[in-house]
This record gives sequence, C-alpha cells and structure tokens, in this order.
Amino acid sequence: MTMRAVVRGVGHYLPTRVVENAEFEAMPDLDTTDEWIKTRSGIERRHFATDGDTTSSMAAAAARAALADAAMSADDIDAVVLATSTADLTFPSAATMVQSALGMTRGFAFDVQAVCAGFVYALANANALIISGQARRVLVIGAETFSKIMDWTDRSTCVLFGDGAGALVLEAEDGAGTSADRGILATDLNSDGRYRDLLYVDGGVSTGTSGYLRMQGNQVFRHAVEKLASTAHTAMDRAGVTADEVDWIVPHQANIRIIQGTAKKMNIPMDQVVVTVQDHGNTSAASIPLAMSVGRARGQLKDGDLIVTEAIGGGLAWGAVVLRW
Ligand code: ACO
Repeated sequence: MTMRAVVRGVGHYLPTRVVENAEFEAMPDLDTTDEWIKTRSGIERRHFATDGDTTSSMAAAAARAALADAAMSADDIDAVVLATSTADLTFPSAATMVQSALGMTRGFAFDVQAVCAGFVYALANANALIISGQARRVLVIGAETFSKIMDWTDRSTCVLFGDGAGALVLEAEDGAGTSADRGILATDLNSDGRYRDLLYVDGGVSTGTSGYLRMQGNQVFRHAVEKLASTAHTAMDRAGVTADEVDWIVPHQANIRIIQGTAKKMNIPMDQVVVTVQDHGNTSAASIPLAMSVGRARGQLKDGDLIVTEAIGGGLAWGAVVLRW
C-alpha cells in the first residue's frame, strides 16, 4: 500500500473586472497595442481585483468552490496550504486569514512563496503532509493580486499579469503504489537563486514599500522552455510514465509561446494542453489551479486522466507534478 493525495474537488474565483488589451492600447503613454500583446504573449484579457477583493478573500472564495465540488465542509479540512507572493499583509499568512474566513477552528495553515512556481511547490508540500500522516485532507490554494505590484508605466510587465484564485481539495487514499493509482504520483522541485535579478519585486521590509515587479522577460523566456520540459521529464520518470500515457498538460499560464515550446519538447500535442492564458493573463501561483478548474468545467480533465503540471517563476524557482485525477 502507498498513501496517495487524491484530488476530491476543484474551484476558482475571478474578480468581476475584466480588462481587455484595448484598454492598454488606449493609454497613450504606454505605447502598446492589442496586436503586440496577443502575438508576443497570447493574452487577450485579464481580471483585476476590485475594491472588495484581496488575495485572502479571493482564496477563500476559490476554497469554498472547491469544498462544494468535493462535497466537504471546512470542518473536514486538516490543513490549508496557500501559494502566493501577494499576501494581504507581511504577516499573518494569507492562509490563516482563509482559515478564519472559512470558519475553521482546528488544523493549521501556512503560505508558500515560490512566485509563479508557488502552486507546484504547494502541491508538493501538501503531498508530503498527506503521505507523512500529518494531515488527511488539505486545501491547496493559489491566489494572487499582482495588479497591486504592477508599475503601470512599464509596458513590458503591466500588460502581462492578472488577479484570481484557484483551489484543490486533496485527500489521503491508499493506492497500490503503481502509476495506475489516482492522486499525486511524483513531484520535482528546483530553484537557483543566482537568477534573482531576472524577476523580482523592488520592495519589501528592506525598503519600507511593497514595490513593483521588475522582469527581464526575454531572459526568463530563455530559461523557461528548457527548465520546464526538463522538470516535467524528471517528474514523469519518477512517476514511471511516458509522454504517450499523458492525457493533459496543465502548464503555468505565462505566455502561449512558452506553453507551445514546452509541449513540443515534451512531444505532447497542443490539443492535450489546457490553455487559459488568453482570458486570465499570468496570475502567477493562481494560474495552475485556475486552469485546472476551468479545464474541468470545459470537460477537459476527467476522472482517471494522467496530468502533468509545470511552472517557473521568480527565484528562479521551477517544478512539476504528475498526478492522476
Ligand atoms: N508593447 C509594445 N512593445 C513592447 C511591449 C508592449 N507591451 N513590451 C515590450 N515591448 C518591446 C520592447 O521594448 C522591445 O523593444 P526593442 O526591441 O525596441 O527594445 C520589444 O518589444 C521586444 O521585447 P522583448 O522583451 O525581447 O519581447 P519578447 O518577445 O521576449 O516578449 C515577454 C516579451 C512577453 C515578456 C516574454 O519575454 C515572456 O513571456 N517572458 C517570460 C515571462 C515569464 O514566463 N515569466 C515567469 C513567470 S512570472 C513570475 O514568476 C512572477
């Protein structure tokens, strides 16, 4: 017998404010076009938080949707693991705010900060909690309010990001220890702090401001396809599965060209890739659970499907998870 962390439910929340590329095009000082944004990134629109939305409120809304999908209540949950780089406050964690918003009075909650790779890191942590017996049912959430760290005069970043949240409910289940089991089959995590200057926020406790996102996009791009394909292959090898067995890739949604390049390197056709970047932009740690929730609603991710999910972000930090839904 092998303990597996099996997906029981999924859900998401998107703020009501939708911003089309045309809105950026209409800002004369920004000097950008719908055509540039679409061709270079694949993004057509994104959602931005409105006054009532914070990272923790969006996370709680996604968590409620995932709990409803799992036919569970907050009382059933032992732990909340929330991936975010845009927590409401420096502390307490956004995860404990979600715990309280859900009315949970037991268990434990903490944030994971690995920027755009955050949800993959959170899944790996939740999996470790489950297989070590620390928790049986874990809410794993990705939630971000990147609109709060955008420099609205920097056209090379402000058109790329969006806000939102997605959540999964994972539950312990005995498996046979083979790749036919449901649940998380393998994980692979990596980081390399030598690349910190490629993608960072220029604020924090050392500056007394929350700061703005700074990115050398073309440099990050160069690392992305190679590192994503490599981590996906490592996780697939650990899971004992090959590309022809994979039903879906659910990639981090940063740029359609990165998504296409990685799928090609993995020998998996684009009609087996869940793509939401056109509608959400890059929502950092929220992008994968958002894509899973939307993909599930579209009928793309079915019970028993073999799924590879991969992400890279600031750090650089990157990783992949192989799971059977
Ligand atoms: N509108 C018009 N022109 C623009 C815009 C814009 N919005 N932004 C940049 N440009 C210009 C640049 O100034 C540059 O002009 P120049 O050639 O005269 O200097 C030109 O377009 C090309 O710029 P590049 O940055 O080389 O364009 P590229 O094809 O690399 O696309 C992009 C840029 C979309 C940012 C791409 O590099 C990318 O997606 N990178 C990876 C992003 C990513 O995955 N990040 C990791 C996750 S995010 C996280 O962890 C928070």
